[in-house]
Amino acid sequence: MTRVTDALDPETVERVRALVQSAARVIALTGAGVSAESGVPTFRGAGGLWNSVRAEDLATPEAFGRDPRLVWEWYGWRRALVLQCAPNAAHRALADASRRHPSCRVITQNVDGLHAAAGGPAPLELHGSLFRIRCTRCPDRRDDRDPIDASSYETLPHCERCGSLMRPDIVWFGEALDETVLSEACRLATAAQLCLVIGTSAVVYPAAGLAKLTLRGGGTVIEVNVDATPLTDIATFSLRGPAAEIVPRLLGETQSAT
Ligand code: OAD
Ligand code: ZN
Repeated sequence: MTRVTDALDPETVERVRALVQSAARVIALTGAGVSAESGVPTFRGAGGLWNSVRAEDLATPEAFGRDPRLVWEWYGWRRALVLQCAPNAAHRALADASRRHPSCRVITQNVDGLHAAAGGPAPLELHGSLFRIRCTRCPDRRDDRDPIDASSYETLPHCERCGSLMRPDIVWFGEALDETVLSEACRLATAAQLCLVIGTSAVVYPAAGLAKLTLRGGGTVIEVNVDATPLTDIATFSLRGPAAEIVPRLLGETQSAT
């Protein structure tokens, strides 16, 4: 049975810390909520991006085919917004934990690059990156942080190799995840003794299914979220509260390391 608990219940925090420390292999599956306290908007829930714009208009290959300037304008806005944001205590605690324990891996649905900015081993980015672009025609892809000028088709990023239009290197609705990234994530999730599910609404698959792979492999699921999610029922503990407050308490070397 899931034990839903207040973030600051010290007994639960201690029990989860002990689970984390005794697990040989840990994965952290993160979503937009882990970056909320850095100022990056989430997709769903209060203030979520999908409340004011439709994903079908901005985050599908069809939308890009119809109106690449509109899609690039939105991604340019998101890139500029995220460039103003810094990793928070949750990103830092996860980076520290994966530096200290190479068998602790971060698997993220986020495209904001804040896990990488916190240092430590590179996270597995399931949905791509806001700061990588790829050609719509040839295999060319590159890192890119420049401001997007969406005032005309010509000013949008174009391929240095073949001259075609570039697109964000992000997995859009209706598209498959990168096979290598997904199979590595599935392998890690199945082998994990502990899966920390942090700040995700757990409604987008296959990402949300990774926690179930851990469970099926005999591991334990712990959730950190300000709200309940469809994964709450399979979690041994569901800690309710902001990630930047809770995650450092679970992962810090000592309780005072928050
Ligand atoms: P969502 O926006 O769907 O969910 C964010 C989750 O974070 C919700 O469950 C919130 O309750 C929780 N949350 C909000 N603030 C929090 C905080 N401070 N601490 C902890 N939890 C908090 O984001 P994702 O689950 O990441 O896909 O969304 C999954 C995918 O759907 C995204 O990767 C994106 C989106 O469409 C693509 O862009 C391909
Ligand atoms: Zn090209």
